Amino acid sequence: MKVNLSSEQVSKTNSSVVSEFVFLGLSNSWEIQIFLFCFSCFFYVSSLTGNLLIVITVTSDPYLHSPMYLLLANLSVIDLIFCSIAAPKMMCDLFRKQKVISFGGCIAQIFFSHAVGGTEMVLLMAMAFDRYVAICKPLHYLTVMNPRMCILILVASWTIGLIHSSAQMAFIVNLPFCGPNVLDSFYCDIPRLIKLACTDTYRLEFMVMANSGLISVVAFFLLVLSYIFLLVTLQKHSSASSSKALSTLSAHITVVVLFFGPLMFFYMWPSPSTHLDKFLAIFDAVLTPFLNPVIYTFRNREMKVAMRRLFRTLLAVRKTT
Ligand SMILES: *[C@@H]1O[C@H](CO)[C@@H](O)[C@H](O)[C@H]1NC(C)=O
Repeated sequence: MKVNLSSEQVSKTNSSVVSEFVFLGLSNSWEIQIFLFCFSCFFYVSSLTGNLLIVITVTSDPYLHSPMYLLLANLSVIDLIFCSIAAPKMMCDLFRKQKVISFGGCIAQIFFSHAVGGTEMVLLMAMAFDRYVAICKPLHYLTVMNPRMCILILVASWTIGLIHSSAQMAFIVNLPFCGPNVLDSFYCDIPRLIKLACTDTYRLEFMVMANSGLISVVAFFLLVLSYIFLLVTLQKHSSASSSKALSTLSAHITVVVLFFGPLMFFYMWPSPSTHLDKFLAIFDAVLTPFLNPVIYTFRNREMKVAMRRLFRTLLAVRKTT
């Protein structure tokens, strides 16, 4: 199968097939590279620690076994995977002269980042739905958001993420690559990869923009509209509980903006060759996964109390052993 494919590509393009890609990286300046390394390292390690802490706190604390926190813990798992797709290789590559990735590695980066990104998108929508039920139908909250519903949401989000990612794969796996193999980036993404293919990719670029770009724009506006609707609903009954709901909502909205902002920029902006683009990519790769736990934990009293409880338990265990 593989042999057939490559021989077909060779006959079509009449030249050799690209088996690896070279990243140009972020900058040639030594100072900037050191800065980027420290910056990414710090935020990568903090993302891992913060998200791991959320997962451990939520799973170990029975008080946090409500749908909202279980979905949040699942979001943290997704962030853990997401920040480990491109960032570790980027950090190792920073000080290498030749930053090379195999063809398969490149495809894998694209597949996993789209699968995980798509899943996160659906999960963010599910979290908005969860807040909708909690605020507009509080009496039905526990019957609507029952454990089966939560499992269903999870299965649906991973399924949709995988379908989205496989659909993107269908566009690119059969592309012939024969010419230049240099990506002006530090990770593989579809818009740049397509530009290297030796066919007319105009229609393909349009398809990808329609698939990834349109999905993220539509999802973003749906989410923003639903949060505006929730904020307006909250305004009507002002009480003590609504100020807590307000702080939860603002945390959700911040996360949504941080997640979708860079995405929409990547897929809707016509020229992906600016420096801003690359720095935004770092932001998306390590900073957004780091900010999720910060936003959710530092601003959330229940979460802080649970973490304190967890630390106290851990200390007690250490003392007794
Ligand atoms: C994800 O959500 C499911 C369903 O609510 C829950 O059972 C599971 O514990 C959550 N995962 C984590 C890591 O908390």
